[in-house]
Amino acid sequence: MLERNRNIVNKWISDYFSTIKSSNDLQRAIKYGISNGGKRLRPHFIIELSKILDIPQSSYRNLSLGIEFIHCYSLIHDDLPCMDNDDYRRGKLSVHKKFSESTAILAGNSIFSMALELILDKKTHKDEKIRSDLSRMILNYSGPSGLMEGQFYDLYHEKKPAGKQKILNTYGLKTSKLFELSMALPFILKKRRKKEIEAAKLYGRNFGLIYQIADDFSDLDKNFKETGKLTRKDKGKGKKTLVSKIGRKAALGLCDKLAEEATSRGSIFNNNKYSFKEMILNITKRVNS
Ligand code: IPE
Ligand code: IPE
Ligand code: MG
Ligand code: MG
Ligand code: MG
Repeated sequence: MLERNRNIVNKWISDYFSTIKSSNDLQRAIKYGISNGGKRLRPHFIIELSKILDIPQSSYRNLSLGIEFIHCYSLIHDDLPCMDNDDYRRGKLSVHKKFSESTAILAGNSIFSMALELILDKKTHKDEKIRSDLSRMILNYSGPSGLMEGQFYDLYHEKKPAGKQKILNTYGLKTSKLFELSMALPFILKKRRKKEIEAAKLYGRNFGLIYQIADDFSDLDKNFKETGKLTRKDKGKGKKTLVSKIGRKAALGLCDKLAEEATSRGSIFNNNKYSFKEMILNITKRVNS
């Protein structure tokens, strides 16, 4: 299912760029930073939920591309020398290495604009009020009290101590926010009940926390071939990870609790042909393998 959805998203991406002529390095960097691979995990959730909620494809295409674009932009900036200083991403040179730092900054900013254009496109929803509600939520979750704040604290704590709660709070911002959006936007678009939207957000939040913990494990245990990133770098950078704070066993124990909590509310996460429960449990299984 994951692979099938990845192919669908990659096709949408290539169609999207087929109408845009890459006549300069900015445009080439934008295309490279989006088309250079990636698991397309956030769109995967949007697609599966949209099918359950009976959302038309033209609409969930825009939601999927919008959120994936924001994710790609966040990675381009995350890799910059002034941030995590990573030369590789998705098994290839990161955007600032392939092009230049200034081009990477401009490409990231451009991709964010492109994402909002997609969400505000009429095909996302015919009702302008819904389109603006979705956009407002995206702006809030990716802004200075969302993803940006998480990235700020991630770097801030490289040089300052951080306890378990601070670390989890940072993960909840830098990683969970986009998963929360992926889960909640389809419900909001369909004007579903508040209770369902809250359950979707909780799943997204906990998925993001577990996902970031798994990413920290990967940095410790995996190699470039497996991750497409240079690994064993977090410690040297002074990153405060949950695993380094509370140890491997406690971190995995917390993942189990978070997965259980995420799927305890809302029948959609348990009794559906698409198993959200399996999806969230599989992240930690991968850590153990
Ligand atoms: C990488 O996200 C950043 C983290 C949240 C750990 P992904 O692991 O989803 O990256 P891609 O899109 O597949 O490259
Ligand atoms: C997540 O954190 C990155 C973003 C939320 C943009 P990391 O910095 O750990 O992600 P990787 O390891 O570079 O993919
Ligand atoms: Mg980072
Ligand atoms: Mg990084
Ligand atoms: Mg990492």
